[in-house]
Amino acid sequence: MKNFWKAVPESLRRLVLVFAVLAGGFVSIRFMLPPSLKDNALHVKTTVAREMVKTVKYAGSDVCADCHDQYQVKKNGYHRNLSCETCHGAAKGHTDDPIEVKPTLPKLREFCVRCHAFNPSRPTGFPQISSAAHNPMKPCVSCHNPHDPKPPQVPQECQACHAEIARTKAVSPHVALECKTCHSVPDEHKVTPRAVKASIPSVREFCAKCHGKDSPVKETPKVDLATHGEKYLCWQCHYPHMPEVK
Ligand code: HEC
Ligand code: HEC
Ligand code: HEC
Ligand code: HEC
Ligand code: HEC
Ligand code: HEC
Ligand code: HEC
Ligand code: HEC
Repeated sequence: MKNFWKAVPESLRRLVLVFAVLAGGFVSIRFMLPPSLKDNALHVKTTVAREMVKTVKYAGSDVCADCHDQYQVKKNGYHRNLSCETCHGAAKGHTDDPIEVKPTLPKLREFCVRCHAFNPSRPTGFPQISSAAHNPMKPCVSCHNPHDPKPPQVPQECQACHAEIARTKAVSPHVALECKTCHSVPDEHKVTPRAVKASIPSVREFCAKCHGKDSPVKETPKVDLATHGEKYLCWQCHYPHMPEVK
């Protein structure tokens, strides 16, 4: 027997060993493990039983509608996809006994910031703020209705976004000129400024409307376009928002 075993090539011996281990494992699992570790039906039964005895903590998002107007308020607002209990915490106890058990009121800034703090991994367009810079010291709910938050109003004035230019122009000889005298601005520019651009004058004749020697505008100094900086655009020498003559 010993010689026979030795005659078998080593690779085959190892293979036999592997099968022996596998067979041994199968036998011990089949006959020696307790039923609770291998019987699927029993496993499902005990798990269901274990979960069933846990107390239900969440009431669901629709029961609140029975007693609270906030449900209707929230329904069509920007927070429509947030369930009440996302913010107020598990409220089954409250629905069972509304007077004695009160849900939490998440009034602190830290709470809203969990979802709204600026974070580059959030999807583009998700409303985000920097808490340190966005009206610090005040609770968010003093300005935003948590049940119906509104997106910011689009600023109507150019200076909301172009403050430096507006301030510069305000102390320049061009103070009386509206931005739109020189730029034509589609309304969408104020909503998506990078996609919809405002125009910029492209020819020197544009300035000549008021400054050319034949211009009918009375109160402006005049130049002769044929001889004044003729090779260049006017704004290569004069900053249009602060034209100065030195
Ligand atoms: C059976 C009626 C009923 C249901 C259902 C109900 N509530 Fe209330 N809730 C009340 C009553 C009554 C009060 C107490 C009002 C008061 O004190 O002025 C209250 C108060 C509250 C308050 C204010 C707590 C405070 O400290 O002022 C919150 C928040 C609230 N409920 C959230 C919920 C949410 C979320 C749900 C759904 C999961 C819900 N409620 C379901 C009746 C109900
Ligand atoms: C985005 C988080 C958020 C969601 C979602 C939310 N709430 Fe509130 N809720 C608040 C905050 C914050 C306050 C405290 C407001 C305050 O003190 O001015 C509040 C206050 C309340 C109050 C007290 C009365 C009041 O208006 O101040 C009730 C009642 C209430 N919520 C019910 C609900 C119900 C019902 C829902 C679901 C339909 C819901 N809330 C969804 C954040 C939320
Ligand atoms: C003093 C009032 C005030 C407070 C306090 C305040 N906000 Fe605002 N929030 C505004 C105004 C006004 C706007 C719109 C103009 C702007 O963008 O500054 C706005 C805009 C937003 C926007 C939309 C930003 C976007 O680009 O779409 C979010 C989100 C927001 N706030 C969340 C919060 C959160 C969260 C808090 C608390 C940490 C908070 N706000 C505190 C007044 C306030
Ligand atoms: C669980 C995450 C979550 C929490 C907590 C949360 N929000 Fe929101 N908020 C959202 C979502 C989602 C939207 C809708 C975004 C959209 O439609 O693009 C939104 C929209 C807003 C908007 C509208 C901004 C815009 O420009 O469209 C404001 C303002 C806002 N939330 C303020 C708050 C305030 C204040 C709190 C705290 C009481 C708060 N949020 C808590 C998820 C949250
Ligand atoms: C909501 C903010 C916002 C408002 C409001 C706004 N702008 Fe702009 N504007 C921008 C941004 C951002 C750019 C830069 C776009 C870029 O670099 O592609 C820009 C670019 C411009 C440009 C340069 C365009 C170019 O081709 O380089 C002009 C001119 C301009 N704005 C004029 C105006 C005028 C005039 C108004 C008022 C009627 C105005 N804008 C209102 C945000 C705004
Ligand atoms: C007298 C005509 C005139 C007026 C008024 C004027 N602009 Fe301009 N603006 C120009 C010209 C010309 C350019 C091109 C400058 C260049 O390319 O160097 C320009 C360029 C710009 C640019 C591009 C960035 C830059 O600084 O070159 C912005 C943004 C802009 N203007 C915004 C405004 C706003 C906002 C107002 C009102 C507060 C305004 N402009 C008023 C003539 C004007
Ligand atoms: C709608 C008419 C109008 C247009 C268009 C206009 N300007 Fe003017 N400009 C004025 C007025 C008004 C003054 C101020 C005259 C005064 O105060 O005596 C002025 C003053 C000036 C001055 C003199 C500044 C000084 O210190 O005396 C310069 C330079 C000038 N503009 C350059 C330009 C350039 C460059 C453009 C084209 C981008 C332009 N202007 C377009 C009306 C215009
Ligand atoms: C090469 C640079 C350059 C260019 C390009 C240029 N200017 Fe001038 N501009 C000047 C200088 C320097 C002065 C002041 C000295 C002078 O009066 O010649 C001046 C003065 C002016 C004055 C004031 C004249 C007065 O009598 O007070 C106006 C108005 C003016 N420029 C408008 C324009 C207009 C409009 C254009 C485009 C058609 C233009 N400039 C192009 C350099 C330039």
